[in-house]
Amino acid sequence: MKGHRTTVTALLRWFDKNARDLPWRRTHDPYAIWISEIMLQQTQVKTVIPYWDRWMRTLPTVEVFAKAKPQTFLKLWEGLGYYTRVHNAHKAAGVVVEKFQGRFPSGYDDVLALPGIGRYTAGAICSIAFGQPTPIVDGNVIRVLSRLFGIPGNPKDKTVNAQFWQLAQELVLISSKVGERNNAVSHFNQSLMELGALVCTPRKPNCESCPVQKACVAFNTNRVEQLPEIEKRQAATERKFVAFVVEKNNRWLVQQRPAGVVNAHLWEFPNVEVPVTYKTLPDEVPFTAGSKPLFTIRHTITRYRIQMDVFSGTMKADASGKWVSKRELAKLAFSSAHRQIANRINQISA
Ligand code: ADE
Repeated sequence: MKGHRTTVTALLRWFDKNARDLPWRRTHDPYAIWISEIMLQQTQVKTVIPYWDRWMRTLPTVEVFAKAKPQTFLKLWEGLGYYTRVHNAHKAAGVVVEKFQGRFPSGYDDVLALPGIGRYTAGAICSIAFGQPTPIVDGNVIRVLSRLFGIPGNPKDKTVNAQFWQLAQELVLISSKVGERNNAVSHFNQSLMELGALVCTPRKPNCESCPVQKACVAFNTNRVEQLPEIEKRQAATERKFVAFVVEKNNRWLVQQRPAGVVNAHLWEFPNVEVPVTYKTLPDEVPFTAGSKPLFTIRHTITRYRIQMDVFSGTMKADASGKWVSKRELAKLAFSSAHRQIANRINQISA
């Protein structure tokens, strides 16, 4: 369609001028691009940049990553959250080494078959690293396309979702046929995400600086704030934890979370979940706590608003775990809340 062609061209021109200079945009290495895309799922660009830089310095190739120990890659991921991402990526690195001799596959179906890689990530890798006209649809793309083309309905509904993929497919195919450039497909897909991040934002989009304002159905019908029709997020659930800082001879008791649970393999201080309105600790807790918390940590993860009261604790019964020095505290991979505790310990006293 002629109209689509104009839209694609306008987006490409806009991207040339306005794209952020992000470190993973300076490479064509599919491994590097894959790592960036996995990190960018559920995590903001500005958070990802230092993690990605450090990762690429430490694990520069898929072979090096495949050989790395969990504590190495978990430490590199520490604080990014959603650690299943990095465990799956490690499995995928193993497959790339075993099945593809360490050369990242370029066939869409081979990429899609790798652990932790879904339609979005496969599309991103194949288009950005290999220049194939594979579509990508993420939250930013949904927002841009739903407004630009006036697509109603909940984007999570199967039929509505299929419309976005279909449209993204048509557009990226057009991009592969415009102009004399070999990066059109990569830049076109990224232009959709970039426009969603910089201009076509969830609230107060900057329509005045939009390159496709003229064609935008939502803009022309005054529905920009009504699209996309995403459901309201459910209210966060409050949860309360109590954690214990237990010290003996300048060593601290820490525990490693088992496989198969949230934050698997990460280290933490002994802790229990308690009722939000708790007054006393459950009897089975093997520690006695100081009379008041040393401090309280608050953090929000997906749909939970978590408060953790951190007490100085004394053992009253056997507790499993490992006694580690300050140096080791710095080296282990902790989940975010527990990293805060470890850092406080390392600040207090020498
Ligand atoms: N979010 C995830 N991947 C991205 C990319 N390549 N460009 C912009 N935003 C992104």
